[in-house]
Amino acid sequence: MNPKALYALSYGLYIVASKKGERINGQTANTVFQISNNPSTIAIGVNKSNLTREFIQESRRFTVSVLAQDAPLSLIGQFGFKSGREVDKFARYTHKTTANGLPYLIDHTLTFFEARVMQEVDAGTHIIFIGEIAEAEVLQEGAPMTYAYYQQVKRGGAPPAAIATGSK
Ligand SMILES: Cc1cc2nc3c(=O)[nH]c(=O)nc-3n(C[C@H](O)[C@H](O)[C@H](O)COP(=O)(O)O)c2cc1C
Repeated sequence: MNPKALYALSYGLYIVASKKGERINGQTANTVFQISNNPSTIAIGVNKSNLTREFIQESRRFTVSVLAQDAPLSLIGQFGFKSGREVDKFARYTHKTTANGLPYLIDHTLTFFEARVMQEVDAGTHIIFIGEIAEAEVLQEGAPMTYAYYQQVKRGGAPPAAIATGSK
C-alpha cells in the first residue's frame, strides 16, 4: 500500500468543540463533512484519546467553527497540538457560546454550526459522530482554509501521532 495515495484527498480545516458540565474544549479537525441536506447532517472523526471526544459523548452535541484562510498557525496549533487536559484552549481566543452553551470561535471563522449527535460509529482509533445540525450561522464572507493550503502555503504540520501511525 502506498500511503501517499491518501494524500490526494481534500479537506477543510475546522475547530470541533463541545462541553462537559461547565467546562468547554475544542480541537482542530480536518475530518468534517456534510452527509445530507434535508435534514442537514454532518459527520466528524474524533480520536478516542482526545478530550473533545469525551466532551461530545457527555453532552451529545458538538459545534464546528469553519476556519478562514487567514487563520494563523498559532490558532490551529493551540487547538491541534495541545490537549484541553493541560490548557484552557479557548481562554486566549474570542468565542461565544450557543444556546446550549457550546463554544465557537469568532475571529478567523467564516461560519459555525451546532449538531446533535444522532449516531456514533466505532472506527477503531476514532469515533465517527454523525450529527443533525440544530443551529448554523454565517459570521463573515471569505475563502475557507483547506488542509492543502495549511500544509503547502502555511507550512503547517500534523501531530506526531498522525505521522507515526497515519492517524490523527
Ligand atoms: C491540521 C490538523 C488536523 C487534525 N485533524 C484531526 C481530526 O480530524 N480528528 C482528530 O481526532 N484529531 C485531529 N487533529 C488532532 C487534534 O486536534 C489533537 O489531537 C488535539 O490535541 C486534541 O485535543 P483535546 O485532547 O483537547 O481534544 C488534527 C490536528 C491538526 C494539527
